[in-house]
Amino acid sequence: MNYPTELIKEAKQRMNNRPVEGFVAGQGSLEPKIMFVGEAPGKNEVENHIPFSGQAGKELMTCLEKLSLTRADVYITSAVRSRPYSTVERVNKRTKKEEVVHPNRTPTKAEVFAHAPILDYEIATIKPELIATLGNIGLQRLLGKDYTVSKNHGQLYVGPILELNKQKTHYEWSKDTYRLLPLFHPAAIFYNRSLTPLIEHDWETLEALIHDTKKGNSE
Ligand code: URA
Repeated sequence: MNYPTELIKEAKQRMNNRPVEGFVAGQGSLEPKIMFVGEAPGKNEVENHIPFSGQAGKELMTCLEKLSLTRADVYITSAVRSRPYSTVERVNKRTKKEEVVHPNRTPTKAEVFAHAPILDYEIATIKPELIATLGNIGLQRLLGKDYTVSKNHGQLYVGPILELNKQKTHYEWSKDTYRLLPLFHPAAIFYNRSLTPLIEHDWETLEALIHDTKKGNSE
């Protein structure tokens, strides 16, 4: 999506020199069957500017294919649009020399808050019929910390979501009602293979919801 230049400038200012790099815009259909909200881009994404284009992205694309969907049918974004990194000093095992590396890390609450105007803008522009959050960061950005993936995955939520107030100083509940399905982050499977049946079941739920949306539109 093309964001207003002011919005990107504002998000950068709100980030206030926290350790993040690059900027990856949300991407896909502006009339999507579903809007996915992930966590933050990683190394691959800041290099090629395509959300979910790394290992987790491959997993996400496999799930989409099973529903006969492609990137072009959906909109993909995340709570934070820059790559949060940490700084680690270590000894390189091969060269035995000291080095400094910058691995990906989970975004902080402050970073999610800094980029909140962007996600609010995307949701206001697209007015998605269905939102699916991928992981806890996207879920808690929109529904608050009482919601967790382990507790709420695969259960459709219908109600207001959290958005910034007019002054952009805190979150408040939206006037509009949304349909939101919490899903595991696609990378979850790399750490815990036993989640496979749960994840498959959640995606079947998603498929049924997309089907319901279509039926609703044609009635
Ligand atoms: N995880 C996310 O949440 N977004 C990406 O673009 C990649 C990985």
